[in-house]
Amino acid sequence: MKKELKLHPEIFDLECTTVWSFPRRGNWATHKSDWRGNWAPEVVRNLILRYSKESDHLLDCMIGGGTTAIEAKILNRHITCVDVNDEALKRTAKALEFEVKNNSRQRIKKCDARDMDFIKNEEIDFILTHPPYADIIKYSDGKLADDLSNIHDLDSFVGEMEKVAKELYRVLRKGKCCAVLIGDTRRNKMYQPLAFKVMDKFLKQGFLLKEDIIKRQHNCTATGFWVNKSKESNFLLIMHEHLFVFQKV
Ligand SMILES: C[S@@+](CC[C@H](N)C(=O)[O-])C[C@H]1O[C@@H](n2cnc3c(N)ncnc32)[C@H](O)[C@@H]1O
Repeated sequence: MKKELKLHPEIFDLECTTVWSFPRRGNWATHKSDWRGNWAPEVVRNLILRYSKESDHLLDCMIGGGTTAIEAKILNRHITCVDVNDEALKRTAKALEFEVKNNSRQRIKKCDARDMDFIKNEEIDFILTHPPYADIIKYSDGKLADDLSNIHDLDSFVGEMEKVAKELYRVLRKGKCCAVLIGDTRRNKMYQPLAFKVMDKFLKQGFLLKEDIIKRQHNCTATGFWVNKSKESNFLLIMHEHLFVFQKV
């Protein structure tokens, strides 16, 4: 007999503070951690439950391995999933191969988040997305021209994220929210506040900042080597990301 898929975590409580930490990534439904740097399903579930309602139309314009799509389907939200990477779209389609007892629909589209002309103005009720952090993780090894994870120069990356912010502002309905998870980096031993620079571009489009949530990072693969480096060269390891929740008012 086919084993029934578990669609919900055993324990789940909505986060109520501005610091979120999920030391063990959930593996209910078809969630897996094999798309590098993917976000935890707990982050997605918290966002969907707080900022949308059933039958709303959601958008993740950088869907990666499909974490957001899985949660939207389980929680009865329609979702448009976008990515420039064929492998990401294939994985997302595969991750959605499970049954639910609701009417949620999923649309998967290969597209650049800077120009999603197939989405009408103000069509979307809630956006949640997780861009690359410049080229910290490369998703296509320089092969895809549209892939923002091929951009090394931080100012150029922020400039391209401004185009994403503009497009997200266009497709989102008034009064609705847009959540973006992004981390910082270090160059030449100095801290680079990439997340704040990207946040600034969203504010420039007209979004207001509703929340700045600090997301604790876990399972950083290079931790052993970098712990020693941090002591030798006297710098701190970055172990947090910013989860910004913007509102279009
Ligand atoms: C951090 S990953 C997203 C991971 C996802 N949240 C998950 O849980 O699997 C960033 C994604 O952005 C995609 N990407 C990069 N540039 C893009 C662009 N211009 N338009 C759309 N997607 C893009 C990459 O292909 C990658 O899948």
